[in-house]
Amino acid sequence: MDDQLFFRGLASQIEALDKYRSADLQARIQRYLPELLEGLQAVYPEAPLVAERVARVIGKNLAERPPDLQALDLLRIHTPDWFQKPHMHGYIAYTERFAENLRGVAERIPYLKELGIRYLHLMPLLLPREGENDGGYAVADYRRVRPDLGTMDDLEALCARLRQEGLSLCLDLVLNHVAREHPWALAARQGDPHYRAYFYIYPDRTIPDAFERTLPEVFPDFAPGNFTWDDELGGWVWTTFNRWQWDVNWGNPEVFLEYLDLILWLANKGVEVFRLDAIAFTWKRLGTHCQNQPEVHALTQAMRAAVRIGAPAVAFKAEAIVAPEDLIAYLGTGRHYGKVSELAYHNTLMVQIWSSLASRDTRLFTQALQRFPQKPPTTAWATYLRCHDDIGWAISDTDAAAVGLDGAAHRRFLADFYQGDFPGSFARGMPFQENPLTGDRRTSGSAASLAGLEAALESGNPRLVHLAIERLLLAHAVFIGYGEGIPLIYMGDELGLLNDYNYTEEPAHKGDNRWLHRPRMDWAKAERRHQEGTVEHRLFHGIKGLLEARARIPQLHAAFPTRPLWQPNPHLLVLRRAHPEGTLVQVYNFSEQDQALPWETLQAEGIVQPFDQITLAPAPAYLWPYARLWLTQHRL
Ligand code: GLC
Repeated sequence: MDDQLFFRGLASQIEALDKYRSADLQARIQRYLPELLEGLQAVYPEAPLVAERVARVIGKNLAERPPDLQALDLLRIHTPDWFQKPHMHGYIAYTERFAENLRGVAERIPYLKELGIRYLHLMPLLLPREGENDGGYAVADYRRVRPDLGTMDDLEALCARLRQEGLSLCLDLVLNHVAREHPWALAARQGDPHYRAYFYIYPDRTIPDAFERTLPEVFPDFAPGNFTWDDELGGWVWTTFNRWQWDVNWGNPEVFLEYLDLILWLANKGVEVFRLDAIAFTWKRLGTHCQNQPEVHALTQAMRAAVRIGAPAVAFKAEAIVAPEDLIAYLGTGRHYGKVSELAYHNTLMVQIWSSLASRDTRLFTQALQRFPQKPPTTAWATYLRCHDDIGWAISDTDAAAVGLDGAAHRRFLADFYQGDFPGSFARGMPFQENPLTGDRRTSGSAASLAGLEAALESGNPRLVHLAIERLLLAHAVFIGYGEGIPLIYMGDELGLLNDYNYTEEPAHKGDNRWLHRPRMDWAKAERRHQEGTVEHRLFHGIKGLLEARARIPQLHAAFPTRPLWQPNPHLLVLRRAHPEGTLVQVYNFSEQDQALPWETLQAEGIVQPFDQITLAPAPAYLWPYARLWLTQHRL
């Protein structure tokens, strides 16, 4: 398969190509075909044949790519760091919980812009199965929108509006599994051999049992085991998550071609970022835990190369909540360096923020960041404090031991602390998926409730309320200021929305306490952001101020690395970002007491007259409880 053959296959799908477009496409093919072929060859013996079909899928979708999106493609080719810029700030929301439906979201664009948002991740909105559907992660039709939210035309119109206003839309692409009701699964159930080959189906327990020996359980509570017997199918089907979420077989090139077609089709509607849901699980290998297998990265490389040819405006975000040494491969290591997803979640940063808030000690945090692998400079982390999922207490035993802690004991402490069971805890949360076999216990709860706002408001003690707000602002400052990527604000955190205990009233939700922290937007509360002195005003403007500061600081471009600096004072987290325009040093006080500024460190970094870029004022003489300072030598 050479450039010309690929080009002819692609061009055969497009009616007329002028000289300019033809040259543009040939250049894209020249650039990305080798990466595509390398990825396909690593997985499919029939790679050249698959590549021919890839060309046709790309051509078909390119023929339909709207002119304004083609213009965006061109702009992005010339702005490859568009998602790394310091002004890229994300927001995550459930369409119906934020604004009723897609049209409602368009009406809320001014609110998002007021906060400083440039990237919007709308939670799953493609047609899910009826009844329980894991918050939309069991998709029955990828080409239809949930009817209560609108239509595909509404989605397209929303994307266009967002684009005009300078916002990019991110959508989930659930690619590890489909709903049992998806047409592929239906056809498989009806016995169609073509579609049976889309899934992992076994006639008896022999192979499932062999796999189970090394497979963990994602939802041991409500979905134990990794295989489900299906009468209609007459077999055991692989179901990593719930029994109605059927894992698809990426070893079958038909699956690759289906998802490629889908990505390009959705990209033509205006989706700019695809969140590759549960990507770690997409390749199975006997005798392993079936996560992070090398084929996952080869396939992502192939998919990305194809999408680079067909829709260069698009970026991939890997949702892999795995250990740092495995995670880094999702942004590219070895021969996939810089060739896979542009974005991935920085789970460690999130866990360490919560860990240090509970312990008031930053040594483990510094240690974990110190050992954290460096990402390729062309990529970015998605940094965050909360999302729609539970928090898994991913503390590494190695890091814990390095600072004199016992990993298991610290994980237990965090799970206790954040379910409010540790003496003196400020948190209100709930245990999620307690696993007596492994001792694993995760946590559900909203950022505000976990950070103490719920308990503080109940106590009526203004000092505790003040501390909870400061704690939340400190936590936001750390992930917003971290600088190696896009900070994601989780809907309602900008107002301090508390746990939603009413989730038990919805039958499809009551068994899954992750709904505790998926509240409905409270627009009356949001109005109070205009009223000085309210909790909402302090949080909203505190977070908005951080985002405004971030947007004007060149040092926060994601291409530059962040380094933690060890401190003799265990309450301080100090991060350094070296940059041609001068070093930025961030100082965070994780305690409820005043602390001295780390003068020695600042001086060693050439900062003798520290200027705080958040408040645009000289640094104060000492660090107040939960202080956060972003310091440079001069006003920028
Ligand atoms: C991802 C989602 C989670 C979902 C799972 C299965 O981890 O974030 O909410 O349950 O995938 O799709």
